[in-house]
Amino acid sequence: MCARVYDCLKCIGERIIENREFLTDLDREIGDADHGVNMARGYAAVIEKVPRDNPDIGAVLKKTGMTLLSTVGGASGPLYGTAYMEAAKALAGKESLTKEDFGKALELAVAGVGKRGKSVRGEKTMLDALIPALDAYNRKIAEGGSLADGLDCACAAAKEGVEHTKSIAATKGRASYLGERSIGHQDPGATSAMITLEAIRDFIRE
Ligand SMILES: Nc1ncnc2c1ncn2[C@@H]1O[C@H](COP(=O)(O)OP(=O)(O)OP(=O)(O)O)[C@@H](O)[C@H]1O
Ligand SMILES: [Mg+2]
Repeated sequence: MCARVYDCLKCIGERIIENREFLTDLDREIGDADHGVNMARGYAAVIEKVPRDNPDIGAVLKKTGMTLLSTVGGASGPLYGTAYMEAAKALAGKESLTKEDFGKALELAVAGVGKRGKSVRGEKTMLDALIPALDAYNRKIAEGGSLADGLDCACAAAKEGVEHTKSIAATKGRASYLGERSIGHQDPGATSAMITLEAIRDFIRE
């Protein structure tokens, strides 16, 4: 099972690395053109440093979070680092993962980003993808949906959230320096959060 968790992280990393230029171009419009470069560097380190054979999913995610924290930099390093380290708390000692476990891990990850970033939904950040994704996931699971169904709904909601970031002004992070001029641009962090969820969905579906 844990090898599957590593393989899923690798799948996320490969997607982020594939999208390095795209994410960096988005950040060029409203930031400092480093989001894709930062994230790709972080996931390259995750692929290299996180052990594939540790059976404890919590330990694997904790190592992932610490690696992102120390290699990504910028605003998103501490935020994604916190997300994985918080998710790890829900999965400490677990060697397999249920749809409820995934929901709890996503919930802690999202709450961790908000706390660390002092941010809420509607500020043109990664939370504009993550919060609707979490809500959609929980709704689908409450209806009796599977992990894959929940992830499908989470990804659809994240995509809508990313679209919505185009219509609002940033009030957190570097893009907030632009104020109203950030309207019309898609948030890079919300986009990397959507790509992350899509990679997990596609990995689960395989
Ligand atoms: N307070 C926050 N809460 C949640 N997400 C945030 C916050 N601040 C920034 N972000 C997210 O981080 C993304 C930018 O990440 P990036 O890696 O480019 O860091 P940065 O803004 O360049 O950092 P720095 O200003 O320290 O160089 C934004 O698109 C946004 O989604
Ligand atoms: Mg940046």
